[in-house]
Amino acid sequence: MKKSIAVIRGDGIGPEITGEALAVLEAVAGKFGHEFALQEAPMGGNAIDRFGVPLPEESLRTCLASDGVLLGAVGGPKWDAQPPENRPEKGLLRLRSGMGVYANIRPARMFSALTAACPLRHETADKGIDFIVVRELTGGVYFGEHRTEMRDGERIATDVMSYSEHEIRRLAHIAFRMAMGRRKKVTSVDKANVLTSSRLWREVVEAVAKDYPEAELSHMYVDNAAMQIVRDPSQFDVIVTENLFGDILSDEASQITGSIGMIPSASLGDPGHPGLYEPIHGSAPDIAGQDRANPIGTILAAAMMLRHSFGLEFEAKAVEDAVNSVLAEGGRTGDIMEEGKRPVGCREMGRLIRERIQAG
Ligand code: IPM
Ligand code: MG
Repeated sequence: MKKSIAVIRGDGIGPEITGEALAVLEAVAGKFGHEFALQEAPMGGNAIDRFGVPLPEESLRTCLASDGVLLGAVGGPKWDAQPPENRPEKGLLRLRSGMGVYANIRPARMFSALTAACPLRHETADKGIDFIVVRELTGGVYFGEHRTEMRDGERIATDVMSYSEHEIRRLAHIAFRMAMGRRKKVTSVDKANVLTSSRLWREVVEAVAKDYPEAELSHMYVDNAAMQIVRDPSQFDVIVTENLFGDILSDEASQITGSIGMIPSASLGDPGHPGLYEPIHGSAPDIAGQDRANPIGTILAAAMMLRHSFGLEFEAKAVEDAVNSVLAEGGRTGDIMEEGKRPVGCREMGRLIRERIQAG
């Protein structure tokens, strides 16, 4: 199989972790006889430095023309003084909307080798954590009107959260389809006791549920969901929610699994369009360039690309199994280190995973 991958290395630890993920993809290509052609697409702070904008047109074109986009992480204190319209994060938001990737899939899964890193009580951790957050990614307050104005001698800032039926419907379909391949439980998270957009959300999700009679749908207010995720995460299978709620809940969900450094994400649009794959953590400028980052989130994001964009389920599984084996054998980057395990750097972690793939 021949596929083209657009690569956004990004800022901070971005180049290190994407480097390891690309090397893993190369190992997969070698072992299973595929060819992955790479196309660089600068984005983020480095693009501001070189081109004056966080997402150059050319980069967006490269991404749209690819079969899948692999992204490290963007941003850092160096660009904090940029005007809001020109921050590295704006590049990411424009990329998501430009690519039309409206569904962000963030798995919260605890690796059995890492149960000790789970901050929850033993009884809770022992029940296991394996759910996914399906977050709306190109609408809501992130993309509503933002304005600051003067009224009666003071500034008033406004951000608009709005959702149309079709935006909710297409996302709900993705959530239900995912649930059908899992434990068939969908929890739709909203704030329908307060927000109009949430009331529409609930109605549309209810309507979509009729197409999936075997799936079980329940609704939960976002404040309660935040609590239930730490009280008993085993109750969740698929959580579907709007952009801002999903941003917050997916960070919470990642933390209870041990480390945010382990969690990948896939952002998908309509079938046939390229997906965007990235770890959910940030660019960690404090440890950039020190060979200390955990590349596993990005490596697992590459596995999601193999699965969701290239249909290479077997190869995706080979990568995930390799990660599991390395963890089981005791290799640990700093963020997941525990007593008695072997500390490894970013490069060594990548090398060990490749070795397992080649040996597998
Ligand atoms: C994420 C990040 C982004 C978001 C930021 C960097 C704009 O927190 O991917 O979750 O809020 O979507
Ligand atoms: Mg976030």
